[in-house]
Amino acid sequence: MSSSVDPCSRGIRDILFWFCLVILIGFALASKTRHFKWEVEYMHWAPDCIDNVVMGINGQFPGPTIRARVGDTIAVELTNKLHTEGVVIHWHGIRQFRTPWADGTASISQCVINPGETFVYRFKVDKAGTYFYHGHYGMQRSAGLYGSLIVDVAEGEKEPFHYQGEFNLLLSDWWHKSPHEQEVDLSSKPFRWIGEPQSLLINGRGQYNCSLDAHVSNTSSSPCKFRGNEQCAPQILHVQQNKTYRLRVASTTSLASLNLAIGVRKP
Ligand SMILES: *[C@@H]1O[C@H](CO)[C@@H](O)[C@H](O)[C@H]1NC(C)=O
Ligand SMILES: *[C@@H]1O[C@H](CO)[C@@H](O)[C@H](O)[C@H]1NC(C)=O
Ligand SMILES: *[C@@H]1O[C@H](CO)[C@@H](O)[C@H](O)[C@H]1NC(C)=O
Repeated sequence: MSSSVDPCSRGIRDILFWFCLVILIGFALASKTRHFKWEVEYMHWAPDCIDNVVMGINGQFPGPTIRARVGDTIAVELTNKLHTEGVVIHWHGIRQFRTPWADGTASISQCVINPGETFVYRFKVDKAGTYFYHGHYGMQRSAGLYGSLIVDVAEGEKEPFHYQGEFNLLLSDWWHKSPHEQEVDLSSKPFRWIGEPQSLLINGRGQYNCSLDAHVSNTSSSPCKFRGNEQCAPQILHVQQNKTYRLRVASTTSLASLNLAIGVRKP
């Protein structure tokens, strides 16, 4: 700094400098980049207690939940560990302003990520809400490639309603036939209808036939009472009387159109 500057303008310059610094730090703290490293891979799983194969992310089915705040940047470094097919992920409901290439639609916004390749999805989330993501190549949504994406209101902002707790429900449909077999059926001439799904899943869990699944139950006389740690054990939502809960619901079904109802058992 030159010594010829008069002390008054120097003082103003210092104030401006600190003012800008505080604003920049404020922005940096308020919006973050959230990094994720994902590997997409087929794996053995029993979503409805019947052994099968699902498309998982980092060994999880459904894929990991992404949670972010309005203004955040999501950066997902995705490696395709499938040996014989490409993959893309579509971020359902995210508007992708200025990042159309991150929309994840095969052959429209990008070429598929080939086996062994890595692609980084980087995009901003600009609206609070409950979203989901899913594979958008071939029948990959039916293969179980999906998960939740939750965007909270910006730091310092309030939700328009009050609640003491929240639950996230990801609903999906599940067939015992492989997605490849489903695809051949649906595109064959004459057309072969694949029928209704064998099971409906909540957060990737369902029961196909309680009688068949007695072997995972702790009592043979009361089927579908699970010990609690099976892959298909029901999702239990623990609630307390007189409290208000928010249910975040997203349907990633590939075919079924669902109604969700909450049963009330009278005491
Ligand atoms: C469920 O399994 C039991 C026992 O094998 C069988 O008797 C019953 O018909 C099955 N129900 C359905 C809907 O598949
Ligand atoms: C079955 O599991 C339930 C819930 O964990 C438990 O209360 C019950 O005692 C168990 N029954 C048997 C026979 O193990
Ligand atoms: C819930 O509210 C009802 C009605 O106001 C009341 O009778 C009951 O005691 C409350 N229960 C608990 C656990 O607070």
